[in-house]
Amino acid sequence: MYLKTIKYTGIGFFIFILCYSPRCSAQDISKKDRDKYISAMMRNMTLDEKLGQLNLVTPMAKTGPFATKNINLKIMDGSAGNVYGILSAGSMHSKLMLADSTRLKIPLINGLDIIHGYKTIFPIPLGLSCSWDTIMIEKTARVAAIEATAVGYNWTFSPMVDITRDPRWGRVMEGSGEDPYLGGLIARAMVKGYQGPDLKNETSLMSCIKHFAMYGAAEAGRDYNTTDMSMISMYQNYLPPYKVAVDAGAASIMTSFNEVDGVPATANKWLFTDLLRNEWGFKGFVVTDFNAIQELMNHGVAADTKEAARLAINAGVDMDMVSESMIATLKQSLKEGKVTINQIDDACRRVLEAKYKLGLFQNPYRNYSPDKAAKVTLTAENKLLAKEAALKSIVLLKNDNKILPLKKETKIALVGNLANNQREMFSMWSFTGDANNVVTILNGIKKQNSNVTFTLGTQVNNDTVFNRKNFEKYDASEQLKMEDEAVNLAQNADVIVAVLGESLGMSGEAKSRTDISLPDCQRNLLKKLKATGKPVVWLLINGRPMTIEADMRYADAVLDIWRPGTSAGDAVADVLFGNYNPSGKLTMTFPRSVGQIPIYYNHKNTGRPYIPGQTEKFVSNYIDEQNSPLFPFGYGLSYTSFSYSNITLSDTLLQGDKRTLIASVQITNTGKYAGEETVQLYLNDKVASVARPVKELKNFRKIMLQPGETREVSFKITLEQLKFYNSSLKYNWESGAFTVYIGTDSEDVKEAKFTWNK
Ligand code: NOJ
Repeated sequence: MYLKTIKYTGIGFFIFILCYSPRCSAQDISKKDRDKYISAMMRNMTLDEKLGQLNLVTPMAKTGPFATKNINLKIMDGSAGNVYGILSAGSMHSKLMLADSTRLKIPLINGLDIIHGYKTIFPIPLGLSCSWDTIMIEKTARVAAIEATAVGYNWTFSPMVDITRDPRWGRVMEGSGEDPYLGGLIARAMVKGYQGPDLKNETSLMSCIKHFAMYGAAEAGRDYNTTDMSMISMYQNYLPPYKVAVDAGAASIMTSFNEVDGVPATANKWLFTDLLRNEWGFKGFVVTDFNAIQELMNHGVAADTKEAARLAINAGVDMDMVSESMIATLKQSLKEGKVTINQIDDACRRVLEAKYKLGLFQNPYRNYSPDKAAKVTLTAENKLLAKEAALKSIVLLKNDNKILPLKKETKIALVGNLANNQREMFSMWSFTGDANNVVTILNGIKKQNSNVTFTLGTQVNNDTVFNRKNFEKYDASEQLKMEDEAVNLAQNADVIVAVLGESLGMSGEAKSRTDISLPDCQRNLLKKLKATGKPVVWLLINGRPMTIEADMRYADAVLDIWRPGTSAGDAVADVLFGNYNPSGKLTMTFPRSVGQIPIYYNHKNTGRPYIPGQTEKFVSNYIDEQNSPLFPFGYGLSYTSFSYSNITLSDTLLQGDKRTLIASVQITNTGKYAGEETVQLYLNDKVASVARPVKELKNFRKIMLQPGETREVSFKITLEQLKFYNSSLKYNWESGAFTVYIGTDSEDVKEAKFTWNK
């Protein structure tokens, strides 16, 4: 029997009958043992101690407007049961010790935003998603967990599974793009990668799904803004990835800043109690986002802190991130009968359950070991995985006259302020990454080609948050000098490689932009480089889809390399010189102009659709812009080419649910290079009781083809894939005609029709 019995005495302290410590001493993680252990512990907790478990504090103001004061004291007196953002190993150890010296020795949940790697940094999540490689993505999360748990973290605020359709929003870089099906697969992979098979394993990092819910739909792409959408759209397009992550066993979930159907998420009982817990069966705990309880007052649904905290706990929130509203007011609300002790107990129990599952009661230090950390961090294998991830995330957007890949001995003029800066290969969310280990693009190219010269070419300071005002401050004559130098360098080279795009501070939280084009100084530079007549390869660095249509004409080839992480230069050089044939496919549509936003592939038709080649009068279009995107969802070129045969269907008229339908295509590599293709399957329901999207991704397969090789790819089409939410939010399929599309992206497809009746 591992559980130590705890007895309450009238004088208010605990006698542990079997031994002094309340820790359980072995691996008994069955629910029954856990419940018994926690019940015993809670019977002996004071109300203050219970409220302490609902409190999450941070010494760090890197990811929010302020830090918590007096953290050590709060941990010591039990009023801060959880912490995030401890950034030094020493401080980590002392805080774990402080918790271990409290009356009940309740260990800390100890979190951090580990978003795309801890020390070894992988490409930003939006980039990673372009690999469509969930096995690899899971591995990146596993490596992050191994590195982070060795320095004492047991919780990460990841994955962000918000569906994003508006690239003005700076946080699109943190998610997996616009598609709910692919987003769900990636969400599951990340949860599995972080948490491993069992939370109690010492390298398991508890995952926190965020931001529940619909945060990606902030109006006008402005961070923290209102969202407003139909229930059908919520269920159909936005909720699926959260649900998949819940089903994958994520042990915690974070509230979003926005409102959902009129009620801010942090106060939304429907969201957290009815949907998440009752309908989806979520068993973990709910944490607010930063200061979100206090912000309920700004939203205008609470008059004061007391009311805000009451609304949050009533909604089903268990833990308060830094606002300290719960700890400050719930006692009084309990006295006044506005909240019940059961509510407080339920929240406290859920937090303690997470601690128990993590094995923290057995060992509050868990995997903390500076020696181990040194061994498992930034290893050669981790860097290799970072390289693989960067390679697979790169999307070839343009390759005129097949100027890529370059010959190894090509004389290269490398230009751009982002080409030789280690930290710039990271993102706002990789502040823990070790920049000293980054292979810059210059160094990566140098390893494979000694014929490279480099100049900055533009003044945009890598560390400056770009905005119009900063730009106006640039010294025009200095800028001209730098451009001239770049042009001189270019004139003596065979090829220009220009590394241009957004610098680190231009995407991430609170980094919304109304203009998502290239900074003007970079555009001018690109223009001048093109004017030299030398071929230009543009390596685009970005945290979001950008409006680069006009600038593309100044480049012969464009590779979107996102923010590639630790092994940036090695990956980029391999792609430039053809050691790796790019295979990434966009997971977010690139608009031609900001005016088209929101623009996404799985949109509805209209009553007056614009059909290219037909009348433009009184149809759904713009008078000054095309409807079509610059690059659609799923788009990405290769150094080789693939041709698709027509689709063969095993049947075109099906009846009842016992039937199976197989759709097949033959794909041939018609080019000179071996290459990987992501074969994408989309479906459309032609007539239904509610308007359905023109296309929805339902499956995909990645295949490797040698030059000249043909492979048949077959997909099973299931009734499950035909289901959707009707106007009563019933999830089912309806009889009728469907179209199946198979192709290389969401637009370039073959199609076939079938009918399936009940
Ligand atoms: C605010 C962000 O919205 C959230 O994603 C993050 O996890 C927290 N700050 C903590 O850093």
